[in-house]
Amino acid sequence: MVVSNFGKNTEFFPFNQFFSFLIVKSRFYPVNLQLEFLKIMENINWSNLTFGYLKTDFNVRMYYRDGKWSDLEVTDSEYIPLHIAATCLHYGQEAFEGLKAFKGKDGKIRIFRMHENALRLQSSSRGILMAELPVDLFEKAVVEAVKCNERFVPPYESGASLYIRPLLIGSSAQVGVKPSKEYTFIVFVTPVGPYFKEGFKTTPVSIFRDYDRAAPLGTGTIKVGGNYAASLVPGEIAYSKGYSAVLYLDAKEKKYIDECGPANFFGIKNNAYITPASTSILPSITNKSLMQLAEDLGMKVERRQIPLEELATFEEAGMCGTAAVISPIQRVDDTDNGTSYVFSKNGKPGAVCEKLYNTLRAIQYGDAEDRHGWVTVL
Ligand SMILES: Cc1ncc(COP(=O)(O)O)c(C=O)c1O
Repeated sequence: MVVSNFGKNTEFFPFNQFFSFLIVKSRFYPVNLQLEFLKIMENINWSNLTFGYLKTDFNVRMYYRDGKWSDLEVTDSEYIPLHIAATCLHYGQEAFEGLKAFKGKDGKIRIFRMHENALRLQSSSRGILMAELPVDLFEKAVVEAVKCNERFVPPYESGASLYIRPLLIGSSAQVGVKPSKEYTFIVFVTPVGPYFKEGFKTTPVSIFRDYDRAAPLGTGTIKVGGNYAASLVPGEIAYSKGYSAVLYLDAKEKKYIDECGPANFFGIKNNAYITPASTSILPSITNKSLMQLAEDLGMKVERRQIPLEELATFEEAGMCGTAAVISPIQRVDDTDNGTSYVFSKNGKPGAVCEKLYNTLRAIQYGDAEDRHGWVTVL
């Protein structure tokens, strides 16, 4: 059901109050549905959420047709009516984003660096010839998606957060390999659990030379579905062997560290934060933030090629991304030659990883000053 179509002149419309009203007293919903809503809320165990999909109340959509973006539409449907020849289905014209909203001790909701996600979606769109969504429309859609699902933002004490998933797809029909003429932009949200339920801890990762996630001049730097499809087989093999991710080497020479599963890699040594420069890595917004925080802490930041053998010299290593902030690496196994690069003998994260992790989380939850203007407070 399309709940509402907001016109262009709605800047001063009190969306918040409107949706609270809608949820509790809505004439759109029968009483039994409203009671169902309340039951769902009562049954959510905020501290036990996983990184899975939980239905929320609404998602928001915009459509690109005849060279123009439509107004924002709010719907409670989880489905998309889609043409069978839509380019997203056949030619992979789809890109997505991932970001989070957090509830602070003060009860306020904070969205982390959505401007950066808007820019990255534009970069993904240019990479696969999709219509670019203007930054202000992206931000408006994200804010509305959070506001109209406000009751699903987990409480501060749970350590959980609201994951926000913007998605852009080519939605008109093409049979030849050509870009779509029409695009559909959707933002849905879902509450996700704290990544480290039993505390911040290290995990092992493995190098597999038999698989590449993306080609050196391919689509690795943009967030398109095809990259993730290519990572499914090596990912599943890694999980089945007890690893938390695949550490990819550069696809051309297999000499340098590249992406680490769905996260960026970094190493720490001699008070320096070192992360790979590569033409096939997704520019992680978490990594960008950690580089800034490392600099703020007086560390040297290096973005350069990291030869595989340099792993032996790192005091600490980690993966970083929106899901976990930092996943400290216990060891990297190079299974082809039996070498193990160990960063944590006792399974505990190193002091620098812990400091960076705590600093970034404190900014996200509003416990520390947002010196760099990364947070949008609703
Ligand atoms: C391949 C890949 N690399 C890195 C990241 C981390 O990026 P971010 O910090 O923007 O979540 C992600 C997650 O989005 C990813 O999928």
